[in-house]
Amino acid sequence: MKDYRGFLSEVLVSEESLQQRVAELGAEITRDYQGKELLLICILRGGVMFLTDLMRHIDVPHAIEFMAVSSYGSGARESTGRARITLDLNTNIQDRHVLLVEDIIDSGRTLASVLELLSTRKPASLKVCTLLDKADRREVEVDIQYSGFVIPNKFVFGYGLDLDEYYRNLNFIGVVDLEKYETSSDGEDDDLK
Ligand code: IMP
Ligand code: MG
Repeated sequence: MKDYRGFLSEVLVSEESLQQRVAELGAEITRDYQGKELLLICILRGGVMFLTDLMRHIDVPHAIEFMAVSSYGSGARESTGRARITLDLNTNIQDRHVLLVEDIIDSGRTLASVLELLSTRKPASLKVCTLLDKADRREVEVDIQYSGFVIPNKFVFGYGLDLDEYYRNLNFIGVVDLEKYETSSDGEDDDLK
């Protein structure tokens, strides 16, 4: 795996800003859902880090569930058409207050498909909390009730978001220099030479 320092063009959101904003979102959600029970549905895998930090700041009773959706063809960095559900819920969401927890909304296609599917299951309410919003890229209208940061149209990684499945562990959101990423050498290969 390549060292991210070789292709990180900028830190877009620092660890400190992330933690502060996540705490604010948690407090807002806590206020809005007073007296209710919540079901947080995290879209795997990008939303995992956000979910586990966010839920520590949500002070109303809540359960968590996971779904997985595939929106990109392999290796692609843009959504292609309709999202496919690759892991569905194991729980009945009818009459429950559902909050979808997403890493990033780009074209909006993934979210639109998931919302369409979940709404057929008659939840009491269905809202969306996304950490990042690439608002300029929207192709499908979607309502977002909680949004961490609106970001420019750049490919980002870290804090749950991957670059070819790696770098999800980083505590900040970085922008990738795609040219450097494609051409930089892989540390492991170097060791083998
Ligand atoms: P959409 O269907 O175009 O809105 O794409 C949403 C999904 O694309 C997200 O859940 C992410 O998995 C992925 N995605 C979009 N932009 C980025 C990015 O900049 N970095 C990493 N993943 C991204
Ligand atoms: Mg993803």
